[in-house]
Amino acid sequence: MAAYPLKQLLLLLGFLLLVGISSRVDGATTKKVMKKITAINKKGPYLGVVVPNSFEMNPLLQSGSFVVDEKFPYLDFSGRRFRVGKLEGEKVIVVMTGLSMLNAGITTQLLLSLFRVKGVVHFGIAGNANPELQIGDVTIPQYWAHTGLWNWQRFGDGPDDELALESSGDYTRKIGYLKFSDYNNDTEKGKSSENLLNSVWYQPEEIFPVDGIPEVRQHSFWVPVSNHYFSVVKKLEGMELEGCINSTCLPRTPRVIRVERGASANTFVDNAAYRQFLNSKFNVTAIDMESAAVALICLQQRTPFIAIRALSDLAGGGSSLSNEAGMFAPLAAQNAVSVLLRFVALLFS
Ligand SMILES: *[C@@H]1O[C@H](CO)[C@@H](O)[C@H](O)[C@H]1NC(C)=O
Ligand SMILES: *[C@@H]1O[C@H](CO)[C@@H](O)[C@H](O)[C@H]1NC(C)=O
Ligand SMILES: *[C@@H]1O[C@H](CO)[C@@H](O)[C@H](O)[C@H]1NC(C)=O
Repeated sequence: MAAYPLKQLLLLLGFLLLVGISSRVDGATTKKVMKKITAINKKGPYLGVVVPNSFEMNPLLQSGSFVVDEKFPYLDFSGRRFRVGKLEGEKVIVVMTGLSMLNAGITTQLLLSLFRVKGVVHFGIAGNANPELQIGDVTIPQYWAHTGLWNWQRFGDGPDDELALESSGDYTRKIGYLKFSDYNNDTEKGKSSENLLNSVWYQPEEIFPVDGIPEVRQHSFWVPVSNHYFSVVKKLEGMELEGCINSTCLPRTPRVIRVERGASANTFVDNAAYRQFLNSKFNVTAIDMESAAVALICLQQRTPFIAIRALSDLAGGGSSLSNEAGMFAPLAAQNAVSVLLRFVALLFS
């Protein structure tokens, strides 16, 4: 009969546990916040507008085109502000991510996890690796890759040597490599140009799509944008954009152009040799620090995505004195917003 009180004790313990869990069922999210999210979602679905930094977001907020929702103007969550409203008559949630891949990925995931979002348009400025384009042009790449996931090869090994952990499927030699000694300056005859950094091999991201098996990884390097969005953008090609900042004008009027590829990594590229490598190896035009992160999240969440990136500088390929972004970033940010607005208007017309 000693089992009876024990059973009761266990029942009581279970009851207490249940009460404990149910009062914290929303985890870090309070019931008040959950209620607000539910109310916002009732009015959805929304187009998610994801932008990296305030200098790129402010021209949008100040454009007069963004009409804030009167009842729920915004929701603050995890250090981000999700702004609810309308753009060109279309329901949107605008969110600023902060610099670089981690911030862009987290913020996009929060956007898609918390809200009813039917598609994501990402915009901002970028470096330009394509000699045929100029600063001020607005590019819309068809593919994005994260070019900062590397397998850094040991000194002495070459292209025919297996990479560490390659045989287990963790790493690959299929995408290609950057060999640092290809960039030695050999003009000083007689000096050794050996380079101990050897090579880094580009790696695809491990992804866990929402419709896959949890914890069973897939791989992705070039992430395509939405076919539908990309075909809508075609109608914007040739659209003329602002070409002057104060009294300084660009050689020709900037325009909208669809390109093949863009690349993102946690690296601000202001280096002529690396810019040239990204263009010749991967046919990259736009170089930035967020788009591929947003693309990778949207890919895994099966949400249509596109990125609009206005070129603000030559990523190290221009003047030997300084990067051009200091001067042209405001013009590029404005041009990106102009294209975003036209895109949203077209998408829902
Ligand atoms: C390589 O070094 C030489 C001699 O120092 C220099 O004149 C040249 O500009 C360098 N090349 C590059 C691409 O920096
Ligand atoms: C490189 O991209 C451009 C557009 O960005 C495209 O016109 C060209 O065909 C591409 N080249 C190759 C070799 O794929
Ligand atoms: C353009 O003019 C504004 C206002 O006078 C000034 O703040 C800004 O620095 C100027 N920009 C450039 C690139 O000269």
